[in-house]
Amino acid sequence: MTPGSSRPAVLISRLLPEAAIELARSRSEVDAYTVDAAMPRAELLARLRGKQGLICVISEAIDQALLDACPDLRVVSNVAVGYNNVDVAACTRRGVVVTNTPDVLTDTTADFAWALLMATARRVAEADRYVREGRFRQWEYMLLLGGDVHGKTLGVVGFGRIGRAMARRAQGFGMRVLYQDAVAADAAAERELHATRTDLATLLRESDFVSLHTPLIPETRHLINARSLRTMKKTAYLVNAARGPVVDEAALVRALREGWIAGAGIDVFEDEPKVHPGLIGLPNVVLAPHIASASFETRLKMATLAVENCLAVLEGKTPPTPVNPEVLNRA
Ligand SMILES: NC(=O)c1ccc[n+]([C@@H]2O[C@H](COP(=O)([O-])OP(=O)(O)OC[C@H]3O[C@@H](n4cnc5c(N)ncnc54)[C@H](O)[C@@H]3O)[C@@H](O)[C@H]2O)c1
Repeated sequence: MTPGSSRPAVLISRLLPEAAIELARSRSEVDAYTVDAAMPRAELLARLRGKQGLICVISEAIDQALLDACPDLRVVSNVAVGYNNVDVAACTRRGVVVTNTPDVLTDTTADFAWALLMATARRVAEADRYVREGRFRQWEYMLLLGGDVHGKTLGVVGFGRIGRAMARRAQGFGMRVLYQDAVAADAAAERELHATRTDLATLLRESDFVSLHTPLIPETRHLINARSLRTMKKTAYLVNAARGPVVDEAALVRALREGWIAGAGIDVFEDEPKVHPGLIGLPNVVLAPHIASASFETRLKMATLAVENCLAVLEGKTPPTPVNPEVLNRA
């Protein structure tokens, strides 16, 4: 609580849609950062001290040092479905609830991953540059030929919410769907999405498009590396709208440069916002600044869900989407 107030104190560490901030203000004392950039770490710690709630984004590292500096904290509400920026085990040990924003971004993220897939195969970014540079002087039969999407094989790595949304889109393109996941989907989902589970090596060998949708965890760091890229078809495309470190970026640069694969569509980078300099000059890669969930509607839904999660915990209720629900069950 802030001195003189019975309402909980919440820090919102990033510029969010006004309607979500207003919702937070209606039930808590809000300190909102009004800049759409990462809050400097020292400022984050200083402003969070004494507060019970934090609504943050993936640029904030929620680690043991932050928890030690902010002992009043009761909830970390991440405005993202992925929470690799949060040390969940440390939060759980300290009784801090962690929440994320699943479901509300699934289709928007899959839409964008699909856009990357299409843009890469059909060379949309190259075509745009070609026209802008004044190079379209006559129609050419062999100009900017790309790969077909319809009728091909899509390999989904990580067959969760977003991975399945990709498989759903593939139905409209008459594609065969392979998937690899740590857990098998139930038979009904496999039937509905015409999807077959394989091991990663088979998926890489047989797919024309490999789309990554796993969380970033130790097991998935550099899941796509030089060896896996060499296993893919020379005509295949890689899409990464999951997390940058799932792909060994230096190996990807070699693969694109030396023709181990045909192209890639990349929304996330190993060391964001830095981009491997080797990627910048390559024509066969489409690059985006981590915007897969960035639609007006979805960014509002994510922020609203994050505020609801935060307020629920601070009001002693069960939040809609907790990551470590075991903390809630403690007395
Ligand atoms: N680019 C973006 O803006 C953006 C937006 C939303 C989500 N994401 C990323 O997408 C990820 C997936 O989101 P989701 O909502 O589909 O999550 P989800 O939990 O529904 O799906 C993840 C799937 O990955 C599987 N998985 C876990 N470990 C694996 C492994 N070692 N090998 C293969 N599969 C494994 C899980 O079993 C699960 O089925 C998020 O964790 C996030 O990092 C990125």
